[in-house]
This record gives sequence, structure tokens and C-alpha cells, in this order.
Amino acid sequence: MVDLLKASGLCGGYGDVQVLHDVALTVKAGEIVCLIGSNGAGKTTLLRVLSGMAKSTAGSILFADQDLRGLPAQEIVRRGIAHVPEGRRLFAGMTVRENLLMGSYLRGDGRAVINKDLDFVLATFPKLAERLHQDASTLSGGEQQMCAIGRGLMANPTLLMIDELSLGLSPKLVGELSKALTEINRAGQSILLVEQDVATALRLASTGFVLDTGRIVLSGPSNELVANPSVREAYLGMTAA
Ligand SMILES: Nc1ncnc2c1ncn2[C@@H]1O[C@H](COP(=O)(O)OP(=O)(O)O)[C@@H](O)[C@H]1O
Ligand SMILES: [Mg+2]
Repeated sequence: MVDLLKASGLCGGYGDVQVLHDVALTVKAGEIVCLIGSNGAGKTTLLRVLSGMAKSTAGSILFADQDLRGLPAQEIVRRGIAHVPEGRRLFAGMTVRENLLMGSYLRGDGRAVINKDLDFVLATFPKLAERLHQDASTLSGGEQQMCAIGRGLMANPTLLMIDELSLGLSPKLVGELSKALTEINRAGQSILLVEQDVATALRLASTGFVLDTGRIVLSGPSNELVANPSVREAYLGMTAA
């Protein structure tokens, strides 16, 4: 599989505060990759640097062989990276349909193409189809996450980045969302998933990266990470046998 995203030597943060230190992370085309780590490790900051919303001070972000580092966030969306933010951030006062269509506003495609993608999103998340004309703020937490992911998909991204898929959701809903992501991935979508629930993350992803205080401390195939004693102890709440 070819590298879709290849970040190397990435440093960045907020103002004078450096959060990320020499981060390297690769997503291969067609893969689900998870980024795991404790609260405050820098996962959100890394996604924000990748999507041009936070400042990077060094390194490179190769995406389809072009360096995206330093480009404005809108240009990065145009190049094919969509970012589903932590906390979902839907537009209140707008319907579900309007929120979904907001995801497509930078595209040059005609209405027929966009409607086809909307149909795909609604087929993936039938609950949204039932609530299409409701204000997005009336959705349950799980439905809001579906709407946020749907909005990301409406950008027709090559890479979909999701920050905290399962936060605040019931196990049943996490199961539903996981199933939907697996389907989307089978249809060819590459995904970079940030997830505090490490068991869920490693189940969904084929490859994982572990971020600790702004540094990648471990990476590899998910099945190897699940079996790794330090991962089991630190993130899966299990003591070594
Ligand atoms: N807007 C901000 N300004 C300054 N520091 C921030 C900001 N957002 C996050 N941080 C700091 O950056 C570090 C990493 O945070 P974050 O990327 O949100 O971690 P995670 O997503 O892994 O929980 C934390 O120490 C946090 O306090
Ligand atoms: Mg975060």
C-alpha cells in the first residue's frame, strides 16, 4: 500500500508552548490508523496541525507526495483532508441537511455529484435521514457524531480524520459508529482516528500510534500493540501476566 499521509519531524503547538516534538506518523491509502494516548498527550493538537488549524514550527506533512505544512486550513480541505473535530461542533440553528451540505461548500462539483454523496451519507447513517430537517442541536450525542462524520464525508475527502469518536457515547452507539466506519473504510475511505478508548481504537484500526507528552513512543500493527505489555498496562487497564 502506498503512503497517503506521511508526517515527519513535526513540531508545533500554541504560541511559545511546544506540544508536539519530532512526531512521525504515516497513514497508508485505504487504511484505518488510530492515534491513542492519555488526555493531554497532544492528539488533538496533532490533528489540528495536520489540518492547518494549529501552528507547526518544523517538519513536513507529505500528502499525496506534496508538503501541506503551512498551507491554510481551507486549502488543506481542498487537497482532501477532512477533520471531524472533538466535540462535534455542529452549527446550531441549521438543520441536519444544512450541516451536511456545509461539508461540501469548498467543492467545485455540481449538485448531482453532491446529492449522490449526500445519499451515501444518509444510507450509512439512516438515523440522519429521519431527522434531515430537524435543527442539528436537537440530535442526541450519537446522532450529532453521525452528523459530524457525515459533514466530513461531504467534503469528499481522501483522508477522514476523526477526533474522539466515542467520547460520551453509550457502548451501543459506539458499536453502531464502529460498524459504520468499517463500512466506509471498506468502500475505500482512509481514516485517521483519535480515540481515548484504546480497546475500541485498536479493534477498528489496522495500525496504531501511541502519543505520550507530544512524542510518538510506540507504533505498529494493532494486533501487536494490543499484545504489548506496556500498552496493556498503561491504556487497557491490565497488569502484565
Ligand atoms: N488552545 C490551546 N492553547 C494552549 N495550550 C493548549 C491549547 N489546546 C491544548 N493545549 C495544551 O496542549 C497539550 C495537548 O493538548 P491536546 O492536544 O488537546 O491533547 P489530547 O487531545 O491528547 O487530550 C495540553 O497540555 C494542553 O493543555
Ligand atoms: Mg483531544
